[in-house]
Amino acid sequence: MTKTYKIAAVNGDGIGHEIVPLGLEVMQAAASQFGFTLDVTHFPFGAGYYQQHGDFMPADGLDSLKKFDAIYFGAVGLPAVDDTLPAKLYTFKVRTHFRQYVNYRPVKLLAGIDSPLRNKTQQDIDFVVIRENNEGEFVQNGKILYPDSPHGLATDTSVFTRQGIEQIAHYSFRLARKRRGKVTNVTKSNTLINTLAYWDKVIAEVAEQYPDVAYTKMYVDAAAANFVLRPEIFDVVLTTNMIGDILSDLGGAIMGSLGYGPSGNINPEREFPSMFEPIHGSAPDIAGKGIANPIGQIWSGALLLEHLGETAAAEAILKAINTATASGLRTADVGGKASTSEVAKAIIEALPVYETH
Ligand code: NAI
Ligand code: MG
Repeated sequence: MTKTYKIAAVNGDGIGHEIVPLGLEVMQAAASQFGFTLDVTHFPFGAGYYQQHGDFMPADGLDSLKKFDAIYFGAVGLPAVDDTLPAKLYTFKVRTHFRQYVNYRPVKLLAGIDSPLRNKTQQDIDFVVIRENNEGEFVQNGKILYPDSPHGLATDTSVFTRQGIEQIAHYSFRLARKRRGKVTNVTKSNTLINTLAYWDKVIAEVAEQYPDVAYTKMYVDAAAANFVLRPEIFDVVLTTNMIGDILSDLGGAIMGSLGYGPSGNINPEREFPSMFEPIHGSAPDIAGKGIANPIGQIWSGALLLEHLGETAAAEAILKAINTATASGLRTADVGGKASTSEVAKAIIEALPVYETH
């Protein structure tokens, strides 16, 4: 009997409506090639839904998503909607309720792509940013007081817990064992002397349990420079929610475009579905034009299949992506003329022995 996985698809907004359906086509092509089935249900959640219904998802939205094996997501946010809402009412809500405490973000130069870093090759740009995804700077724990008065005041208090730090550290060290055996903790404990000093202390304790993994600590300002000057020194970059958010866009940039970056919001214990999305947002400036780069979205589909245990299908998609990029096919963000769907089609055609019907 063929295995069937239940996938919740959330386009979100903007280019999500263009790249999520194409990403699903690629996953379906791989599924039929590798002998499993994807049973996909679409949910119209996002800022567009908010404009009609006053919330990013209905009250039972999380209960609906919970029943799936995985969530395939684009991005949420529209210029006409208050931009403090998308994270609060959708992205962070899903990530925290489903204990997706790992944000897994590969930074890997694809075949044939010129990195903006002159002289850096595929060997040099190949690491993973592991962003703590449930706490830290992004817990939205604060307030704004008297905003329009001369005494206006605003706070956002970070939260770091021993359990939260330990679990992301263990994940990172275990991952390093499967890669090149190196963890770099990117921190800023010289100035955030409470939260990040504690973060460093707990990570150093965990590091002692992995004597076979090389452990180093680096401040984020230096790390930002090293992403550009010496990306080859990184293997697993373990970092906080906000630092990881910022550094992974820089990671996308050194891969040539934000449009290439994939990610998984992972609940390693599998108590809840994990959610897979590109690192970029809804790109309203290019939405509806058919020119968005679909590769970060498609690669996120490969990460989803890998998480479900369909490793061969995941590897085939990544290989097909590389075949497409090696052929010179480029969307406008990397100076090309190819449309979103042309790139997706080339990837489907490059899947080994896949036959179109
Ligand atoms: P963005 O990532 O959407 O766009 C930044 C720039 O990169 C834009 O010029 C855009 O055209 C370009 N870009 C992004 N993805 C691309 C792709 N696949 N192909 C070609 N070009 C691409 O970030 P921005 O503009 O800061 O935010 C736009 C909206 O997205 C906001 O409402 C924001 O809140 C939301 N957002 C949502 C996220 C999520 O749902 N996880 C993550 C980041 C932003
Ligand atoms: Mg981001």
